[in-house]
Amino acid sequence: MGELVRFGVSIDENLLTSFDTLIHAKGYASRSEAFRDLIRDMLVRNSWEADSEEEHVATVTLVYNHEVRDLSDKLTEIQHETHEAVVSTLHVHLTKHNCLEVLVLRGKAAEIRRLADRLIATKGVSHGTFTMATTGENFS
Ligand code: NI
Repeated sequence: MGELVRFGVSIDENLLTSFDTLIHAKGYASRSEAFRDLIRDMLVRNSWEADSEEEHVATVTLVYNHEVRDLSDKLTEIQHETHEAVVSTLHVHLTKHNCLEVLVLRGKAAEIRRLADRLIATKGVSHGTFTMATTGENFS
């Protein structure tokens, strides 16, 4: 963890008022904590966009109807093909027909994105989301 540094920020008053309203609604205790979160989020996004070789983590959430022919098999097949990137899966039998699956993925940014796109684009998946995360290394 680095030394704590204070710095001044010049900002339009209206913009700051909007920001304060937002962070209050989100429950931030201070502007500083909200700023730190914004900076970390920007760093994580940049790290994904930079397509670096370093290890990235992400989650994919899928909702699908398990009665769709071959769909469950297809999704399982993709995960076995890429088993080194799939750290863990959580499966919930959501309703009589629908399943929700959350996958934790780990690996190079481009490979993880490709895998997530492939899962989400699988025919029969009714909703899919991809969330970029971080290993938390280099963060304080
Ligand atoms: Ni299920």
